[in-house]
Amino acid sequence: MWLYLAAFLGLFYLVRWYRERQIVSHLPDKYVFITGCDSGFGKLLARQLDARGLKVLAACLTEKGAEELRDQTSDRLETVILNVTKTESVAAAAQWVKERVEDRGLWGLVNNAGISLPTGPNEWLTKEDFVTILDVNLLGLIDVTLNLLPLVRKARGRVVNVSSIAGRVSFFGGGYCISKYGVEAFSDSLRRELSYFGVKVSMIEPGHFKTAVNSKERFLKSFQELWDRAKPEVKQVYGEKFLESYMKKTENLEQKCTEDLSLVTNCMEHALTAHHPRTRYSAGWDAKLLYLPMSYLPSLLVDAMVYWGSPRPAKAL
Ligand SMILES: NC(=O)c1ccc[n+]([C@@H]2O[C@H](COP(=O)([O-])OP(=O)(O)OC[C@H]3O[C@@H](n4cnc5c(N)ncnc54)[C@H](OP(=O)(O)O)[C@@H]3O)[C@@H](O)[C@H]2O)c1
Repeated sequence: MWLYLAAFLGLFYLVRWYRERQIVSHLPDKYVFITGCDSGFGKLLARQLDARGLKVLAACLTEKGAEELRDQTSDRLETVILNVTKTESVAAAAQWVKERVEDRGLWGLVNNAGISLPTGPNEWLTKEDFVTILDVNLLGLIDVTLNLLPLVRKARGRVVNVSSIAGRVSFFGGGYCISKYGVEAFSDSLRRELSYFGVKVSMIEPGHFKTAVNSKERFLKSFQELWDRAKPEVKQVYGEKFLESYMKKTENLEQKCTEDLSLVTNCMEHALTAHHPRTRYSAGWDAKLLYLPMSYLPSLLVDAMVYWGSPRPAKAL
């Protein structure tokens, strides 16, 4: 019985490995548009695809980011300034892409731009705090996708949406996990709709990586600001000790982060270049070995694991 099971698993992985090795042809003719290329995964992916010979159209939030990227890449790579929360900016970027790709269409759209702050216990936040994150991570991603979809359909290309393991398990309050759950839901419906047109949609679900979204300094500053402006009742219920423990836990955040960002960008590259891309890519060992299995556990067990690692409010029963 165990032998049959091992043989079946071996065969399954062998067939999968063979299927996933097949790469699409004419890569140097293909255009890929990436958002959030100033830093982190977006910047590395732009450099990686440029080095592989693809025509990269890199969207940066700032001119400084765009200039830095151009300095590190070939003349093939072109940049545009894009703020995904501004509809005019998204429409202008879509027109800019259209002028470049012409009748060939857009082979790849990588929705990577994202922010992680303000984040904290839900009661410390305002509706505007939720809106800030949802506007970039979810509504911005949807706006960019809707504007570029006709071009992607023309090329029978790929949409690669950057979600997170926080789109599978909601560990903390605020808009971040909600935005990533939203990215998963949007990508699932989009994948089913676009399959009729030969367009493939993939999601990237990284664990913790050392980039600006996980900057300890930014988190600590943001927590302190949220605490300072919290209502007296909230402060009383949580207590200063909670804030201290919360801060201490955050101090260790960067130690938990993987430094090798290529574990994520290699998944993005595979989603763009393989004949048979995966629907979901778990990037990083923490994602594969801890958070992904955790997402399949009953809520009771996940709750227990989250309580175990969290500070308790002063007035907890
Ligand atoms: N790092 C992780 O552990 C991790 C884990 C799971 C998922 N992710 C996701 O991965 C994606 C990339 O993040 P990262 O880790 O590479 O962090 P990052 O270095 O901060 O990259 C995010 C990029 O998005 C840009 N951006 C921010 N607001 C924008 C806006 N309104 N319009 C356009 N661009 C905007 C940033 O520009 P500036 O640099 O100019 O601010 C930056 O280039 C995000 O969607 C993030 O949620 C990250």
